[in-house]
Amino acid sequence: MKKHNRALCCLFGFVLLYNFLSWSKTMLLSSQTETSGPKSPEYNITILLWHWPFGVRYRLERGDCMDKYEIPRCFLEDNRSLFAQADVVVFHHNELWTGHSKLPLQLTRPPTQKWLWLSLEPPMNNHNLSNYNSLFNWTMSYRRDADIFMPYGELVSKRSNATYTIPMKSECLVCWVVNKYKANQSRSLVFKQLKKHIPSKLIEVYGRWPKRLLSNKKLLSTISRCYFYLAFENSVSTDYITEKLWRNSLQAGSVPVVLGPPRNIYELSIPPESFIHVNDFSSIK
Ligand SMILES: *[C@@H]1O[C@H](CO)[C@@H](O)[C@H](O)[C@H]1NC(C)=O
Ligand SMILES: *[C@@H]1O[C@H](CO)[C@@H](O)[C@H](O)[C@H]1NC(C)=O
Ligand SMILES: *[C@@H]1O[C@H](CO)[C@@H](O)[C@H](O)[C@H]1NC(C)=O
Ligand SMILES: *[C@@H]1O[C@H](CO)[C@@H](O)[C@H](O)[C@H]1NC(C)=O
Repeated sequence: MKKHNRALCCLFGFVLLYNFLSWSKTMLLSSQTETSGPKSPEYNITILLWHWPFGVRYRLERGDCMDKYEIPRCFLEDNRSLFAQADVVVFHHNELWTGHSKLPLQLTRPPTQKWLWLSLEPPMNNHNLSNYNSLFNWTMSYRRDADIFMPYGELVSKRSNATYTIPMKSECLVCWVVNKYKANQSRSLVFKQLKKHIPSKLIEVYGRWPKRLLSNKKLLSTISRCYFYLAFENSVSTDYITEKLWRNSLQAGSVPVVLGPPRNIYELSIPPESFIHVNDFSSIK
């Protein structure tokens, strides 16, 4: 979970925040226009993060929106005393669920303020959400039907003169990192069958389950030595594609073998010939 969280938070800090900021500024400006007539583009937007995802804090600077994302007049804050003037308040689900943080239901909610529910976890890990009915205005998640789509990663074009060397492969054919192994998950069933067809000296398995931990620093270089990486999601859920694809496979330069949503969903994010889907074949053999 730790490693996963760190990946999540680093993603949170970069590409994805951009989607969020540009989207919310556009939406806020247009909704302001709808409700109260034309609003000058000089309008400032304050986005308040009520608590940090998984308790991992980053330093926010006043100029972040402009300096990092080139979005003027938007301010990302984590100081709760700014509640009354916030245009958007962001609540990351995990801390609400675990009780580390609470919704400020006792405070008067400014009429134009939007509450945003954020989670990058599949439904199974979000548990029972019925207590949150009619409290939030927007959702933000890896799901494409969220108000703000926040994928775990995305392709960006390389700089024209950038060069890329495919990492050298060694005797490792296929690699898998698995922490929370459950025998009855689909990924475990597929792995068990795969093992029958691949000599065990060609498979490397790491993580908490086989008690072969890989430090965050060693992760990519270890996977890089293998031709294929098993980017098997722990939960097969709508649009749920995680760092197992983006970081563990693609960033390491190993071909992802994916188990998760259907192939056409992956193809919305990466080229069709850049991965192998478990469902491409009628049998594991
Ligand atoms: C946000 O949702 C709440 C609860 O449904 C609603 O009362 C409020 O008017 C909404 N606010 C905006 C700005 O849309
Ligand atoms: C979810 O929680 C609500 C309220 O606490 C309860 O009424 C409902 O039965 C729960 N649903 C499930 C599926 O557990
Ligand atoms: C790549 O291009 C950029 C700008 O176009 C230049 O600053 C940089 O030095 C180039 N790098 C290499 C390795 O040629
Ligand atoms: C897997 O096992 C757990 C408990 O061991 C059980 O709660 C769950 O329903 C099982 N899932 C499936 C898909 O069989």
